[in-house]
Amino acid sequence: MTAVIEVRDLSKSFGSKNALNGVNFAIGEGEIFGFLGPSGSGKTTTINILTGQLLPDKGESLIFGKSSQDLAPEDLKRIGLVSEDSGFYEKMTLEKNLLFFSKFYGVKTVDVDAILERVGLLDSKKKVAEKLSTGMKQRMLLARALINRPSVLFLDEPTSGLDPSTSRGIHELLLELKAQGTSIFLTTHDMHEATLLCDHLALLNQGSLVEEGNPQALIQKYNTDKAVEVAYKDGHKERVPFEELSSLGHVEEILTIHSCEPTLEDIFIQLTGGKLNV
Ligand SMILES: Nc1ncnc2c1ncn2[C@@H]1O[C@H](COP(=O)(O)OP(=O)(O)OP(=O)(O)O)[C@@H](O)[C@H]1O
Ligand SMILES: [Mg+2]
Repeated sequence: MTAVIEVRDLSKSFGSKNALNGVNFAIGEGEIFGFLGPSGSGKTTTINILTGQLLPDKGESLIFGKSSQDLAPEDLKRIGLVSEDSGFYEKMTLEKNLLFFSKFYGVKTVDVDAILERVGLLDSKKKVAEKLSTGMKQRMLLARALINRPSVLFLDEPTSGLDPSTSRGIHELLLELKAQGTSIFLTTHDMHEATLLCDHLALLNQGSLVEEGNPQALIQKYNTDKAVEVAYKDGHKERVPFEELSSLGHVEEILTIHSCEPTLEDIFIQLTGGKLNV
């Protein structure tokens, strides 16, 4: 695998606070990488180092094989960043903001309506940016990232605070970008989103990686207690080990059978004793 993004032994402290302790990972072309960890675990700090906004104390961070500290304007054009504090011109409409950013990125033709439609903001194109809700701002940031079609896209919690149908639209969009070869670095608190979208994920706790891998492989790795939960029409439920499934009686009384696989949250709790989704 040729790594598009790579960090080696990355460490960063703020005063006495160790924000990152020797973090390593690599992301390949067209991969969606999920970076999961509770609040304060070091996710945004990692993005800030990778995008050259913050210097690490130790270790290396590379994009396109180049140190983040040496990224030239041409490289930055290939990198999209969606985070809470990337700004818009507050008094300008969404349409004008996107037209401005397309000029700024040197993109000659841009279909602003199509982009706004993709993020569910076409009806708001004449609204000024300052009037947007948090969820709308996040979608607008994604719209801006879509203008220059970056090779690498950093998304810091892109769906937090969004309703399920808008989140689904964003998921579709991310999968489309991935299909076009975009590598996506995604931080999220949403376990379902991570399991659904990510090719590879890393669990971060207090600045250290505690586990990483493909979501399904991780779930299987920790699925030691192989069993299903059988729910019956009369409302009672039972746990049935895999090896006893074939001898299950009263099949006509069964309403549903669910697997008892652990979730990413269960795995995180098992590894750290703490919750992921905080
Ligand atoms: N500029 C800074 N000065 C001092 N401490 C900082 C600074 N930036 C981050 N920290 C601290 O470093 C740790 C990691 O912060 P970071 O913002 O990377 O966490 P996060 O995983 O992105 O959290 P969240 O999910 O809440 O966004 C936290 O303890 C935070 O308080
Ligand atoms: Mg953060």
